[in-house]
Amino acid sequence: MKILVTGGLGYIGSHAVVELLNENYDVVVIDDLSNSSRDIVDKIKEITGKDIVFYENDVRDEAVLEEIFTKHKIDAVMHFAGYKAVGESVQKPILYYENNLGSTLSLCKKMLEHECYKFIFSSSATVYGDPERLPLTEDCRVGGTTNPYGTSKLMIERILSDIHIANPKFTPVILRYFNPIGAHKTGLIGEKPNGIPNNLMPYIVRVASGELEILSIFGNDYDTKDGTGVRDYIHVVDLAKGHLSALKKAMNDEGIFYYNLGTGTGYSVLEMVQNFEKVNGVKVPYKMVDRRPGDIASCYSDASKAYEELGWKAELGLEDMMRDSYNFILKQNEK
Ligand code: NAD
Ligand code: UD1
Repeated sequence: MKILVTGGLGYIGSHAVVELLNENYDVVVIDDLSNSSRDIVDKIKEITGKDIVFYENDVRDEAVLEEIFTKHKIDAVMHFAGYKAVGESVQKPILYYENNLGSTLSLCKKMLEHECYKFIFSSSATVYGDPERLPLTEDCRVGGTTNPYGTSKLMIERILSDIHIANPKFTPVILRYFNPIGAHKTGLIGEKPNGIPNNLMPYIVRVASGELEILSIFGNDYDTKDGTGVRDYIHVVDLAKGHLSALKKAMNDEGIFYYNLGTGTGYSVLEMVQNFEKVNGVKVPYKMVDRRPGDIASCYSDASKAYEELGWKAELGLEDMMRDSYNFILKQNEK
């Protein structure tokens, strides 16, 4: 079976490609390298011993999509490509809507033209806005997103639903990720944000490795166990495996499906720091600062639907996430 993976050289996409190759799928990747690099193709080969077909192109380039769908018999698409920096999306909304919506529309158009109906989409827990209740189940209210990035995910979910209504064979599986962290255990692929990281884990590892001085903890007066924000962190390899389970569902069923991909457990920022220090035997200096605008107190999933319907659940724990995140950055710094 042949899978087209858009954004397949990025953080989550590359881990999904590895899992697909491990399960003997053929993989075609399209990635414009706007947030990744070509050497990931070699890293994927090093990990799996297998080759992918790689197109260095923008997903919005419909001539290239036409070539891909004509040349390869694509059975399903996993759509990771998109921009994801929340702060930047506030500054550059047009760029974000153009890329995130445009790539999805071009892709779906070409899929329908070529009678390819199985679509796995990278959505986000951000679509729930300020959670209606916790833990979040898939039927919780969506909306109330506070930035163009989040709104683009919400809009895409709606677009996919409309396309499904008009074309019932078109089967989107919408995966709402909670907070992916960690890296492949080889340390060959992982998350490498450009510049100063915005997200917690990339920041912690850079403080631990001495590249940044101190972690700012955004708020210690939330209504949570210790006052700091609580999130549902999930190992990227577990997340990647969730895509294979979603793919099997899509291949065997018709409809539109929504799943939370999280562990179901929330950890506070302080717990994350303490755990990281313990697992890796390093200090992470921190200071308390004001809340970050737009942040919510707590966000964690009820992950039972994915288990019941897909047979998937996260297997790796916080220790694995801490160890693998740090291992990746140390390996990067060795070069
Ligand atoms: P990433 O930036 O590492 O990967 C995205 C990849 O897509 C990059 O390799 C980039 O070069 C490529 N790309 C972007 N626009 C493209 C285009 N128009 N054509 C071709 N390639 C393009 O991001 P990631 O963390 O791997 O996220 C993957 C997906 O998951 C994204 O859609 C993101 O919004 C979503 N998501 C991520 C998180 C997270 O915390 N990382 C959480 C929820 C949802
Ligand atoms: C981020 C994204 C969100 C996305 C989600 C899942 C932002 C603003 N939001 O949210 O759109 O859906 O990831 O991937 O990027 N924290 C600190 N200090 C830091 C960084 C973070 O204290 O330097 C705290 C935050 O306040 C939060 C927690 O750590 O309580 C996690 O933050 P982060 O990793 O940015 O993820 P989210 O805020 O959940």
